[in-house]
Amino acid sequence: MPHHQNLADITNVLLDEQTRGDLLSETLDQYRDILLTASGIDLGGEEEMDCVHTGAGVAIGTTWAALCIDDLLRTKRFVSGLYQAVVSTKARRDGPVHILYAGTGPWATLFLPLTSRFSAQELRVTCIEINGGSYASVQRTFDQLGLSDYVEAFIQTDAATHVISGGTPIDIMLTETMQYCLIDEMQVPIALNLMRQLAEDVIMVPERIIVSLGVLEDETNRFVRSDFGPVFTLDKATLKAYLPITGSLDFPTFRLPVPLPGKTPEGPLALLTTIQVFGGQNLTHYESGLTNPQIIGQYPTTDNPLAAIDFTYQLEPTPLLEMAFIND
Ligand SMILES: C[S@@+](CC[C@H](N)C(=O)[O-])C[C@H]1O[C@@H](n2cnc3c(N)ncnc32)[C@H](O)[C@@H]1O
Repeated sequence: MPHHQNLADITNVLLDEQTRGDLLSETLDQYRDILLTASGIDLGGEEEMDCVHTGAGVAIGTTWAALCIDDLLRTKRFVSGLYQAVVSTKARRDGPVHILYAGTGPWATLFLPLTSRFSAQELRVTCIEINGGSYASVQRTFDQLGLSDYVEAFIQTDAATHVISGGTPIDIMLTETMQYCLIDEMQVPIALNLMRQLAEDVIMVPERIIVSLGVLEDETNRFVRSDFGPVFTLDKATLKAYLPITGSLDFPTFRLPVPLPGKTPEGPLALLTTIQVFGGQNLTHYESGLTNPQIIGQYPTTDNPLAAIDFTYQLEPTPLLEMAFIND
């Protein structure tokens, strides 16, 4: 099997809790080179840059999806969390573990390392991708790496509307189709659509994404001074409780009071995104492009008061955490 040993070495480094800095960066460079050669995609191509606008959110272009690999800790923690999810499923029952991977990008980056730890009899994957270039590329990648035996099916579809057909039951639903604050991309509609079709014990990876309101040290300092608590959580419980009211797909509005000036250290107000991938693999503030805080305003003063903020996660016309500022 071409690159089998290289992939095994890469996996060992990615799954090692001690891996940091240069070693992680060099290992992912090597992994990217293998994937580039296998897929033959042109990262500079015009078509490869094109995003797909589904009408309910954005699916990023082939080049951008490929380059997600360079978000070092994201890639490491997602691969490690997915590995933990497979191990935990195998501990529960016999038989192959089946992953539904929604949004593989051109390389199925988060899945391939696991092929050096589990055989094709132990691990199965169904690959979903909406972008035509990425869809063609992911098939070439599996084929060129001699890993097609792992694949139940390749499906080109919108994962936010896809209807899962019968076949091998799914154990893990994996999707990383998000940006910080769950803006624009389709993590939430994809998770909603797929998880409601799957059994209750199916593991969702990432298992929880929390957006909270916080205060930063200042506009430039990479430091969160205080966290006022979650304003939107995406996990199996919120998906199960989701019940849109007539005429709107919005999640319920959540009002978070903002402490009075002087009651807490002041600085820019920001939305903070944290990700619990699985099995203790987490991503917190500034560790990834997905968890960079987004400044939304200045801390209120007596001249510029703010009592609370109403947060509503909307799905239409595009995924977004809507905010309404309440002054009294
Ligand atoms: C952020 S990239 C991640 C790529 C790769 N899974 C990784 O983690 O490195 C997200 C991928 O999901 C695909 N995608 C986004 N929305 C989708 C949807 N609604 N249905 C199917 N694929 C989607 C995009 O085209 C893109 O290839």
